[in-house]
Amino acid sequence: MENYPHFLYGGDYNPEQWLDYDGIIDEDFKIFKKAGINALTVGMFAWAKLEPEEGVYDFSWLDDIFERANANGMKIVLGTPSGARPIWLARKYPEVLRVNANRTRNLIGGRHNHCYTSPVYREKVVQIDRMLARRYAGNPALILWHISNEYGGECHCPLCQEAFRNWLKQKYHNNLDELNEQYWSAFWSHTYTDWDQIEGPAAPGLGSSMSNGLNLDWKRFVTYQTTEFFKAERDAVKEFTPDVPVTTNLMGVYTGLDYRTLARESDIVSWDSYPRMAGPNEDAVPAAQAFRHDLMRGVGNGKPYLMMESTPSLVNWADVNKMSRPGQLKMMSMQALAHGSDSVQFFQMRKSRGSFEKLHGAVIDHSGHDDTRVIREVSDLGADLKKLDDIVGTGVKSEVAIIYDWENRWALDDAQGFKNFADSDKKGYLSEVLQHYRCFWSKGISTDIIGMKDDFSGYRMIIAPMLYLCPEDTGRRLSEFVAAGGVLVTGYCSGMVNENDLVHMGEFPGAGLNKVCGVWNEETDALYDGQTNGISAFGKTYQATDYCAIIHSEGAEVLGRYETDFYAGMPAVTANRFGEGEAYYIAFRGDDGFLNDFYENVLVCHPVTRNLDTYLPQNVTVSRRVVNDREFLFIENYNAEPRTVALDNRKYIDMLAGERVSDRVNLNAYEVKVLRTVSPAPGAD
Ligand code: GLA
Ligand code: ZN
Repeated sequence: MENYPHFLYGGDYNPEQWLDYDGIIDEDFKIFKKAGINALTVGMFAWAKLEPEEGVYDFSWLDDIFERANANGMKIVLGTPSGARPIWLARKYPEVLRVNANRTRNLIGGRHNHCYTSPVYREKVVQIDRMLARRYAGNPALILWHISNEYGGECHCPLCQEAFRNWLKQKYHNNLDELNEQYWSAFWSHTYTDWDQIEGPAAPGLGSSMSNGLNLDWKRFVTYQTTEFFKAERDAVKEFTPDVPVTTNLMGVYTGLDYRTLARESDIVSWDSYPRMAGPNEDAVPAAQAFRHDLMRGVGNGKPYLMMESTPSLVNWADVNKMSRPGQLKMMSMQALAHGSDSVQFFQMRKSRGSFEKLHGAVIDHSGHDDTRVIREVSDLGADLKKLDDIVGTGVKSEVAIIYDWENRWALDDAQGFKNFADSDKKGYLSEVLQHYRCFWSKGISTDIIGMKDDFSGYRMIIAPMLYLCPEDTGRRLSEFVAAGGVLVTGYCSGMVNENDLVHMGEFPGAGLNKVCGVWNEETDALYDGQTNGISAFGKTYQATDYCAIIHSEGAEVLGRYETDFYAGMPAVTANRFGEGEAYYIAFRGDDGFLNDFYENVLVCHPVTRNLDTYLPQNVTVSRRVVNDREFLFIENYNAEPRTVALDNRKYIDMLAGERVSDRVNLNAYEVKVLRTVSPAPGAD
């Protein structure tokens, strides 16, 4: 972080749960100090202890935590308490509680159970936020604001409906005809004749849930309204502490909010990282988690970000709450640093005695002492982090960008058609994006994960899998990107609808992508599980599953063809020179073998920088952070066995071991080596 020269190391701490227990907080601080902890995140769920009755405040216990932090040279990440409201507040002002999609109001309790439109709730939140900010303004321990906690969910109350209609009036320039056209509302006689008739989507069977345009706008509105709520909180604390940065913790690929909109209102992005370690899909976890880190860096415009939460051992909300194996805590923490995080923070510092999270992993367990495996691992990592100060604040440079876009995901998931997978990845969009991502990750090539509205100009290659929702403007900018020498990879399902989910008339892929790719996608076939088609390409046969689009070349070179079914012999993968660049179209969902060979071929024609020019064993990768002529390589072994990686001919310092290395590095199981170049980085600015 710009205002702190070390990696932030600590996490969520809830002293408000322990105020009546003598000695606990004393003991905690002793352990924190020994373990190298330098930052505590406090206050997120402490509203009832901060304001036990309306207008009656008690900051004494929090003052004490600030004093202890200062006395120990530690920092405080101060949470605002809006994520969970006191019982008295909800009791007195029922409108603060959420109304669900069935149009019934929730009962008191739980967290994230508030209406983000309610003026009363905003007023109460802003009031407590201002009290906190005024009190701790100028306190040297206050390093960062943690606004609320994992904003999410929706409210369907009358206040939210009214706000939605106002949002729509603005968007459609007060023109109901425009809205009716974009919603294609002649379908099923849904034509609106008055703004008052518009109601947000309801639970299935209850009201409107099948109007794609309405559903999409509702999701945008939820993002807008949540962002407005965030801004109210942000501005409340900024009034007193203008120089203290503000963040709110995000949740990776959470689908409820377009994080690009929300995150760009904060000073620094932070997110909560919970990979499922040590499970049956262990091999897929590191790349999938790396993708989420890159995504979170991307929503913050590529700047260093924070890993705000992670578990020091296990979670309590999975089907199987397996502990991470010794070494995996450090490995996954180093992964966060490798992708641009300036922190390693945990949920939670001390395990609660009761209630919902008493079995969730924590730094300090119920035993209360520090003679535990977890604290030994935490202390060991704490000591390592101190050797890596030079990396804090440095960036990641990518020549390749992959588009993963929330609006596209919403539209695709909501589309009736194609193939339906599990609810967590309805049309298989995320898994398709991950498959492309993995090809670069396994080669040690840094990627940025960007949205369709982001700037494309700095990249050499853009990968746009399943870009179903592709507004004219995105299509035009992708065309310009290729015309100017860029490489585009896209394929089936792409370029089908505009920003309001209205189909592009004419040949798919629309928005001009048919010209760029030199193909016409006539139809899209979906395959049942277990069904495949063969693809002959690059002198081999690969397997297509799930999706096979039937395409015609309109000038593109055919690199591969379908082998069976009535479309046997038709093009399945193509390349098209367009202006100074080249556009590839993959008409089917391929297996890992296909995509790897495909990208090997693309990279021969269009080379990009690898973080280390060497052969990488399976599940070993290299990430890179750079600043000026300094370069930091993270060589990451995600295997349960040792691996060796040959270096290039540069000289390096192993920052953790404090020794020079050249020629090769030997990595233990789950080991990450952090190397600093001694000679300047090639291509560094
Ligand atoms: C989320 C929340 C935390 C805690 C953890 C448990 O990330 O922000 O308050 O509930 O999950 O994994
Ligand atoms: Zn509401």
